[in-house]
Amino acid sequence: MKKREYKNIMVTGGSGFIGSNFIHYFFEKTNSKANIINLDKLTYAGNPNNLTEIQNKYGNKRYFFYKQDICDFGGVNKIFQEHEIDCIIHFAAESHVDRSIFGPKEFIESNIMGTFNLLEVARQNWKDRQDVLFQHTSTDEVYGSLGDTGFFFEDTSYDPRSPYSASKAASDHLVSAYYHTYGLPVTISNCTNNYGAYQFPEKLIPLMIMNMMEKKDLPVYGDGKNIRDWLFVEDHCSGIWAIVTAGRYGETYNIGGENEWENIKLIHEMCKIMDERFPENAPHNKLIVYVKDRPGHDRRYAINCDKIKNELGWTQSVDFAAGLRKTVDWYLDNQEWIDNIRSGEYLKWIEKNYERR
Ligand SMILES: NC(=O)c1ccc[n+]([C@@H]2O[C@H](COP(=O)([O-])OP(=O)(O)OC[C@H]3O[C@@H](n4cnc5c(N)ncnc54)[C@H](O)[C@@H]3O)[C@@H](O)[C@H]2O)c1
Repeated sequence: MKKREYKNIMVTGGSGFIGSNFIHYFFEKTNSKANIINLDKLTYAGNPNNLTEIQNKYGNKRYFFYKQDICDFGGVNKIFQEHEIDCIIHFAAESHVDRSIFGPKEFIESNIMGTFNLLEVARQNWKDRQDVLFQHTSTDEVYGSLGDTGFFFEDTSYDPRSPYSASKAASDHLVSAYYHTYGLPVTISNCTNNYGAYQFPEKLIPLMIMNMMEKKDLPVYGDGKNIRDWLFVEDHCSGIWAIVTAGRYGETYNIGGENEWENIKLIHEMCKIMDERFPENAPHNKLIVYVKDRPGHDRRYAINCDKIKNELGWTQSVDFAAGLRKTVDWYLDNQEWIDNIRSGEYLKWIEKNYERR
């Protein structure tokens, strides 16, 4: 299959967890000669340190960074025109479910209005061009919650439960509407939980690793039996690249790990790795404490990703045991990155909002 090529790719939210992994993946693992133009507002979750090597190697040659809110049409439009953008890979979003429960407003603004703005910039500049692409990165959480069996498919009805997933669902619908209404070339990906380097430590895996490093409580929601499907972040990036270069316009592709874990079992697994690394502190699972459940906490997510496998030849490449070890070791080896983040508001936020059961 002939792969599409681009000259100037706008990546939104490129300084966050998945966006920065994607930019690393792009420069280190693909043969593309395109330039990357990263637009990021640098919210608490955006961290320029995630891209230091890229900045040093490619900065202002093939990599361009703009501190830019995607909700500002004029600002985005100017950069879009200056760089003659022919592809947008849209990651920018407020991404943490808990924060969306405590304060949904930013989620509505960035995730819905921000996506709308980008779509408008793309539509007004690209007009009828068909050699361009708007790739929208979304989540499996838009499909709602599963019982003990079954999987989400691309045509599963949307049933979002949190302000976060509702805002992502709305943005997915907008992207789809721009394809059907205006013929804008778009693709959408809905992915399961990612893990790996550079993830902001409010999310389960880095939060647990960092708490263990500090001998702090490991807070587990409810009975700990909620199930998530975990995918190594680089595999998400390769899936997105497969879609960007060969996905059919107007299509949605599910991306998943086919790797379901109860939260509590996953935490025990991480404890075991930390026991090996720091036997003097073992057993780390003595730090586990159960906390009041998240309201509207979806029980199980699991995705069927046969479509991207069959159509685009994508598959997961990282075995979970190896990926989890690699991830734990990355956080252990990157103390400076952690210290930088921890010096901010994040610890206070966690202490304020997680009530012990
Ligand atoms: N993390 C996951 O497991 C997962 C799974 C599936 C899909 N997703 C989706 O992937 C995308 C990236 O997720 P992530 O985990 O990297 O999130 P993240 O919170 O780590 O990063 C989000 C980035 O977007 C930036 N941003 C937020 N609002 C912005 C705005 N208004 N203008 C410009 N930049 C803004 C932030 O500064 C940050 O750099 C999101 O759209 C999310 O919904 C995430």
